[in-house]
Amino acid sequence: MKKKNVFSGIQPSGRLHIGNYVGAMRNMIDLQDEYFCIYGIVDYHAMTVRFDPEEMTKSIFNCTIDYLAAGIDPEKSILMLQSTVSEHTELAWVLNTITPIAWLTRVPTFKEKQQDNPNYLNMGLLDYPVLMAADIILYKAEVVPVGEDQLPHLELTREIVRRFNSYFGETFPEPKEKLGAVKKILGLDGVNKMSKSLDNCIYLDETKEEIWKKLSTAVTDTRRKRRADPGNPEDCNIFTMHKAFSKKEDIDYCARECRHAGIGCLDCKKILLDNIVAELKPIQARRQELLKKKDYIYEVLHDGTIRAKKIAHKTMDEVYERIGIKLYHNAGQNKLS
Ligand code: TRP
Repeated sequence: MKKKNVFSGIQPSGRLHIGNYVGAMRNMIDLQDEYFCIYGIVDYHAMTVRFDPEEMTKSIFNCTIDYLAAGIDPEKSILMLQSTVSEHTELAWVLNTITPIAWLTRVPTFKEKQQDNPNYLNMGLLDYPVLMAADIILYKAEVVPVGEDQLPHLELTREIVRRFNSYFGETFPEPKEKLGAVKKILGLDGVNKMSKSLDNCIYLDETKEEIWKKLSTAVTDTRRKRRADPGNPEDCNIFTMHKAFSKKEDIDYCARECRHAGIGCLDCKKILLDNIVAELKPIQARRQELLKKKDYIYEVLHDGTIRAKKIAHKTMDEVYERIGIKLYHNAGQNKLS
């Protein structure tokens, strides 16, 4: 039986942190056997905020390396750069024409951007979710591994799909999200989402010493004031991290011993440190190797473009047929009469 398609997009915007890893990346890696996965480095999306072209060049390269190091396998999956498959923007235009503006102005990420940065509200920001919908349905993806923050975008994608199908006939499946087992880990402040701009992250390329410096001062259960106080694992971000990185026996041990003050927060953090480092070590080693193979990185992306383009072209052919302009697209071959 033909495998179902998966699509997910990755913004080339600097270093990856363990929140990205736990939220979406692990699933992106795990889905590779059961599904046919297409992963796009979404440079067009990254352009919706002010950017430096030199940084863009570097970020795309580093992002490709990060994902290969983490376990995206170009033998199994397609890893491509969004802007090299022009069908993404072609389809986005078609979808633009059936998407009411009101659907876009109510998207939470747009509202946030509007508040944070009222002086840089470009069309791309408003249109961001339409391009994302195009990314997904261009490959008729049925499953989309993403972090929780992307759910409104996925809901919108389904609405656009329903509208397209009802206007022009059944063409696209409605994609479903695939969330991580641990949906969200907070930042080291224990309050906000882990986010680069808040400087509360543990990055995938950090050393054990760097991670310990951050973990040792990270906020835990705020009700536990002293070592002798019993703790509440369910209200502790360190415990959430344990659930994302530790084996069951460590999770159970930490929960049990925390509850009766058998261990202190530092003891609990040390166990977590070892488990995070164990998971990151092979990724970091692969990353170092990949950094030496520049040509290989370009090859992967080039090969991804060619393979993605084949699927994308086929979908666009169908779209042009549905919307009544295919004849003209084939004019060279069919001769207009
Ligand atoms: N908006 C996503 C993010 O910021 C990136 C993205 C773009 C994406 N296109 C996509 C994710 C398609 C999933 C599917 O993380």
